[in-house]
Amino acid sequence: MNSVKHLIDWKFWRDEDIRHVLELARTVKHNRKDYQNHMQGHTLVMLFQKTSTRTRVSFEAGMTELGGHAINLDWRASNFALSKVRFETRYLSRNAAMIMARLKDNADIVEMEDAASVPVINGCCNLYHPCQALADALTIAEDRGGNPDGARLTYIGVYNNVVNSLVSISSTLGIHLTLVCPVRDLDTVDEESRQRLQDAGLLNETLEVADAVSQADYVYTDTWLDMEYFNDPSYQTEKDRRSELMLPYQINSTLMAGSRAKIMHDMPIHPGYEIAEDMVESSQSIIYAQAENRLDAQKAIMLHLLLGL
Ligand code: CP
Repeated sequence: MNSVKHLIDWKFWRDEDIRHVLELARTVKHNRKDYQNHMQGHTLVMLFQKTSTRTRVSFEAGMTELGGHAINLDWRASNFALSKVRFETRYLSRNAAMIMARLKDNADIVEMEDAASVPVINGCCNLYHPCQALADALTIAEDRGGNPDGARLTYIGVYNNVVNSLVSISSTLGIHLTLVCPVRDLDTVDEESRQRLQDAGLLNETLEVADAVSQADYVYTDTWLDMEYFNDPSYQTEKDRRSELMLPYQINSTLMAGSRAKIMHDMPIHPGYEIAEDMVESSQSIIYAQAENRLDAQKAIMLHLLLGL
């Protein structure tokens, strides 16, 4: 491990630094012009091994708005596809100020972290999605007048990479997290983070979905199948199995009847699966605000990692 600071998941950060970056994200969001030259002369390399809309757009727009530049690299069109992560990362560190990478395997982002002499930001791997979790926390903080502490968040879906990072950040921020996760991949669950949240008295796990919704300020869902498998014919059987098992847990008007909870989803949305289409743009939905907050959350992450703000 080198001395450069990276973001692989919030579990590796000190509580005070997480709180600081969340506050910085709020400051940046409400004072955008004050930060428009901070990244001048700096280049971010964005490496994608998987598809993306929000991560790609918000990191590039973020660098543009901060006065810097972003280069997009598709894994398959780069020589990461031919060589070792370590060698290619050492080169990137010579020409770029920061690297943001969306890689399939957490082991590869850890190899990148170890090899890089510039900050590495995890843009979502099989285990973690920290940028999403900060945007989620920012969305809840803003909805509650600035502080997410004490918010009651119910996540309904598969226990996945998004959940691991939500669990990590909730421990620090005092968010009461209820998990309704009928499907969990034991290779994915970060047991250490889960135990920490449980020890803090902030974790409730249940399959009583109606009860979980009735007690929630926020109801959050995500895809039932990872993005790289969703349209893959070889995963059709697993997709069908999960769809049948998970359908009673879909966020729809029946489930939300009587609840005033705000609806969250990290996007992309699969209407008719984890969420009914009419819920996406219902009056309770804060989904687009949540997606918009990726921009300022990631600006804060970059400003902190590169400039020490
Ligand atoms: N939520 C999220 O990471 O969106 P993309 O996969 O489109 O980047």
